[in-house]
Order: sequence, then C-alpha cells, then structure tokens
Amino acid sequence: MPSPTALVTGATSGIGRATAIELLTRGWEVWIAGRDSHRVEAAAAELGGRALLVDVTDPVGVAAAARRVSELDVLVNNAGVSPEPSVPLAESDAELFRRTYETNVFGVVTVTNAFLPLLRRSHRPRIVNVSSGTGSLTWSTGPNPQFDHHQAAANGGRLAAYRSSKTALNALTLFYAQALADDGIKVNALAPGVRATNLNPAAAARGGDPAEAADAVVDLATLADDGPTGQFFSYDGTPVPW
Ligand SMILES: NC(=O)c1ccc[n+]([C@@H]2O[C@H](COP(=O)([O-])OP(=O)(O)OC[C@H]3O[C@@H](n4cnc5c(N)ncnc54)[C@H](OP(=O)(O)O)[C@@H]3O)[C@@H](O)[C@H]2O)c1
Repeated sequence: MPSPTALVTGATSGIGRATAIELLTRGWEVWIAGRDSHRVEAAAAELGGRALLVDVTDPVGVAAAARRVSELDVLVNNAGVSPEPSVPLAESDAELFRRTYETNVFGVVTVTNAFLPLLRRSHRPRIVNVSSGTGSLTWSTGPNPQFDHHQAAANGGRLAAYRSSKTALNALTLFYAQALADDGIKVNALAPGVRATNLNPAAAARGGDPAEAADAVVDLATLADDGPTGQFFSYDGTPVPW
C-alpha cells in the first residue's frame, strides 16, 4: 500500500510544523504548505516533505496549488492568525475582524473546497480543523467558564476577532461534516491547548510544546472508519462543548 498523503497549511512553524514532522516520522507523504516560498522550500528540504506555496487567502493561488497535488487523504487546516490580540473589542473595527476571518474562516473554505475532489478519491479521507478552546461559547459562559476573563470588563473583550473566528470555524466543521458524511469524509475540530508558538509567544513561559498538539492532530487525521465526525476535541482527546 502506498503511504497516505497529508497537506498541512501553515506548516512552516508552530503546530503545523510539528504536525508535519509527526506525519513524516510515521512514513506519510506530507505537503508542507505555507505562504512564504523561501520558508516553505527550507522547511520541506529540512523535514523531508514536499513544498507547496499556499496563501489560504488567495483563491487563485490555492487553486494552482491544488493542481499540483494528485492524491490526498488528509487535509489539516492549521493556518491561523491573531492580529492585534490586545485591542479591546470596543476599540477594534470591522477591518480587524475581516483580516482575522480572511485566514481563519474564509481561508478554510477556500482550501477545503479546492482539495475536496482529491479527498473524495481517498479511501480514508479526513479533515482536521485546528480551532481553539477560546472559540467555545460554552467555555466562555457559565457555569464554569474557562475564558470569561477575556470578556470581563478589565480585559474589554480582547481577542474577540480571533475567538469569534474560531467559533465560526467550529460551525464550519459541523456543517462540512454533515455535508460530506455521504462521501465518508470525517471532519473534526481540535482545541490544541496553549502552545508556545509565534501566534502565542506568551505561552513560551508556560511550556506548551506544539508537539503535544501535533499528536492530537494526527489522532484526528488517522481516525478509524467508525470514528467520530463533526465534533470538537481537546488535545487530550476529551470532547469540547461548542
Ligand atoms: N499556539 C496556541 O496556543 C494556539 C492555541 C489555540 C489554537 N491555536 C491555533 O493553532 C494554529 C497554528 O498556530 P500556531 O500556534 O502554531 O502559530 P504559528 O506558528 O504562528 O502558526 C500559524 C501558521 O499559519 C500561517 N499562516 C498565517 N496566515 C496564513 C495564510 N494567509 N496562508 C497560509 N498560511 C498562513 C503562518 O505563516 P507565517 O509564518 O507566514 O505567518 C504560520 O505558519 C492556528 O490556527 C491557531 O489559531 C494555537
């Protein structure tokens, strides 16, 4: 049997890079997708994957990238941004939300739809959306909210653009899972936990190895045929409420 093939967006750093390493270690073919050609080429050469230039906000470029790929079993929608994370909601504007959603939400639609024809031909197609626990509305409200401090008056709704983009991504995960169930494509979202990455430099002091999140991505990428779809999981495998 040929090795399965995966494509990881935003794979030149952080959780995406760790996921690529984990899949390559398991003998997978991995398309290392990123938006900077030099970094993509360098990461692919270093890790042993295949370089693919993919800016998820560029539909023409994404379509061109999809034409370069002939087989795909797993798509990991990992690319994400959190611009201006410390701006309180009342001081932000629609442009901040637009910039955030372009990558975290619209980019996922662009990439997923571009690669769907390939996934439909796979024997075990899986999509993993790297979301965030901060996008859980249940975890943001009572009775035991984990993230209400972000919304509290003292913090003024910081990260609202990012967090709501992940709430939207969670909804997309569910709707794609329902739409693609007849194709046998399982679609799940992951809350990767706090990880020390470029996106979350503050986590560096708290540990948060991206490799632990990558293991969880790989678990969802390799779900058995009777595994779940349309669900939201924490990196430790427990379900996260929407
Ligand atoms: N770190 C955490 O604590 C944490 C917690 C919850 C969820 N997450 C999620 O985990 C995912 C990975 O983030 P990370 O923490 O590993 O941070 P990261 O190292 O900054 O990785 C994000 C990746 O996305 C790429 N990217 C951004 N915009 C893109 C675009 N338009 N097209 C293609 N690629 C793009 C970045 O590329 P550039 O290097 O070119 O910017 C980068 O490689 C994100 O979806 C994030 O929301 C992270």
